[in-house]
Amino acid sequence: MKIPAGRYLIRSFEDQDAAAMAEHVSNPNVTRTLAARFPSPYTEEHAKAWISLCHLEAEPVNFAITENGDLVGGIGLTVQRGARRRAAEVGFWVAEAHWGKGIATEALQAFTDYAFSRFDLIRLFAYVFEGNTRSTRVLEKVGFTYEGTLESSIVKNDEVYGELVFALVRPQIVP
Ligand SMILES: CC(C)(COP(=O)(O)OP(=O)(O)OC[C@H]1O[C@@H](n2cnc3c(N)ncnc32)[C@H](O)[C@@H]1OP(=O)(O)O)[C@@H](O)C(=O)NCCC(=O)NCCS
Repeated sequence: MKIPAGRYLIRSFEDQDAAAMAEHVSNPNVTRTLAARFPSPYTEEHAKAWISLCHLEAEPVNFAITENGDLVGGIGLTVQRGARRRAAEVGFWVAEAHWGKGIATEALQAFTDYAFSRFDLIRLFAYVFEGNTRSTRVLEKVGFTYEGTLESSIVKNDEVYGELVFALVRPQIVP
């Protein structure tokens, strides 16, 4: 699966991404503002296990962001269930050495278009740790709207944070 994203390419994870993935994700500056729990230390074996899981996805939802073939980030989607099935949460990260180059913005723009065209979604949303202004900027640039703050909603590394809710809602087509 390949999703062109301007100067970058969103594609399925490949086995050879494991070393770069381990290097980038073992950086606490990358994981500090991600809700997922990562093993610490995060090794190449952990990265390989993650990549194997991605290969098992019947409908791929987790992807690598690459620059000239090299892994520089990740982006993924969690489609909600039941009555919320037309909403999906989006999450993304970029290797710290590449921050500020516009990678997340270009990737999220392309991925948003992909998600709305591929899935029967009417709402894409993201939870952002309070104070994560880089992520807030990325979401705003792509057209997500701030909807409110969930106070004290998440614990990470024994610290409690509020989370900002951002969403992009696709106007419903009236038959
Ligand atoms: C958030 C993250 C994905 C941004 O990636 P990126 O590729 O650097 O993002 P971009 O370069 O596309 O855009 C970053 C924006 O933040 C701005 N920015 C950079 N440093 C900043 C700072 N200290 N404070 C506020 N804004 C800042 C940039 O100027 C840019 O906005 P601009 O284009 O208006 O100038 C990256 O920092 C990251 O991986 N963080 C850790 C994981 C994470 O928090 N993921 C998001 C979960 S919702």
